[in-house]
Amino acid sequence: MVLAARRFVLGVSGGIAAYKAVDLVRRLRERGAEVRVVMTAAAEHFVSPTSFQAVSGHPVRTALWDESAEAAMGHIELARWATDLLVAPASADLIARLAQAQADDLLTTLALASAGRLWLAPAMNQQMWAHPGVQANVACLRARGARLVGPAEGEQACGDFGAGRMSEPMEIVEAVAGIDLREIGASMQGKRVLMTAGPTLEDIDPVRFVGNRSSGKMGFAVAAAAREAGAEVVLIAGPVALCTPDGVTRVDVRSAKQMHDAVMARVDEADVFIAAAAVADYRPVAMLDNKRKKSGDTWTLELVLNPDILAEVAARPKRPFVVGFAAETERVEEHARGKLERKRLDMIAANRVGLEGCGFESCDNALSVYWAGGGEEINLGAKSDVARSLVALIAARMAER
Ligand code: CTP
Repeated sequence: MVLAARRFVLGVSGGIAAYKAVDLVRRLRERGAEVRVVMTAAAEHFVSPTSFQAVSGHPVRTALWDESAEAAMGHIELARWATDLLVAPASADLIARLAQAQADDLLTTLALASAGRLWLAPAMNQQMWAHPGVQANVACLRARGARLVGPAEGEQACGDFGAGRMSEPMEIVEAVAGIDLREIGASMQGKRVLMTAGPTLEDIDPVRFVGNRSSGKMGFAVAAAAREAGAEVVLIAGPVALCTPDGVTRVDVRSAKQMHDAVMARVDEADVFIAAAAVADYRPVAMLDNKRKKSGDTWTLELVLNPDILAEVAARPKRPFVVGFAAETERVEEHARGKLERKRLDMIAANRVGLEGCGFESCDNALSVYWAGGGEEINLGAKSDVARSLVALIAARMAER
């Protein structure tokens, strides 16, 4: 949702970097954004509108006075539609026209008519970029709220070396995706979030344990996103090799029992409880004091059920907003909705495990999120992004209640 709920008008102005904007469209769409491309007359000297049409899946607009395009979606409508106007590459000329608030072509007109965020990814010769006139225009646009991405330093198409190269498409995508969650209305300001993450390990003897596969990455990403949205976050973490996200209070535990106790000691103060941990459902009946010696061909280990932390929190009379996770390999919606009802959760985020590029150790993930009477898919993406989308959903659901 962080990019998925965003509608970009990508303004392409004249510069050799225009060819990189084709890839930029692809990358924005991969992350779920909708993209409509508008080219200036100068841009058409570098890339054909057909390329942009092919990657964006929509006709490309090049002129203000195009009757058929205006009939489909008028320029004011397009300006209103956009949550973001991203100009990449932004040439010196375009920056100057924007700074003067001109409306002499479609792109500059859109910039005036749109209340969306304005992003500029400048691209020009380093001498031009360093020119005080260009810098003054940039400063003026910044003062009016424009956000700059780049330019980068390096070798230029003209053979010069210095600052002026357009940032790489991936960097631009990261920058536009990286806006504070609070800005897209996903505020958790003042909320206290209690969460669990990582596996739990249930000791058999001093050297062996029963445990679940979990890197903790998804849960830690959710903690970071909740913090970014303004929440106070306490993260009860099983044994994982991860750094604590900035501003998050971390409590380390090992077993399900310890995780349970750590949660119960803090749950009264929580507004939201998010159970992202892969808690071991069972633990050995007793832990052996000494290492068990090998003996016999088989070994039967007796296990007892661990407390269900999530269900226990959800069953409390005065309970926080409760979000569970479910790892499913098949019939995802049916199983996840079953858990949602059985455990009386407010929301459940289901992970389809076993998909390539998804889940456990991976840095990417996709989630199907369900609540009573609704649901939303969060497409495959970096866990950090998926986590931000999930937090945005939680914030929206909490605000609705
Ligand atoms: N959970 C928990 N405490 C447990 C077990 C699970 O808090 N002892 C939480 C997990 O953090 C996760 C959700 O419950 O949010 C996952 O439930 P899961 O273990 O998948 O559900 P089960 O009801 O055990 O279903 P399954 O039959 O799939 O194991």
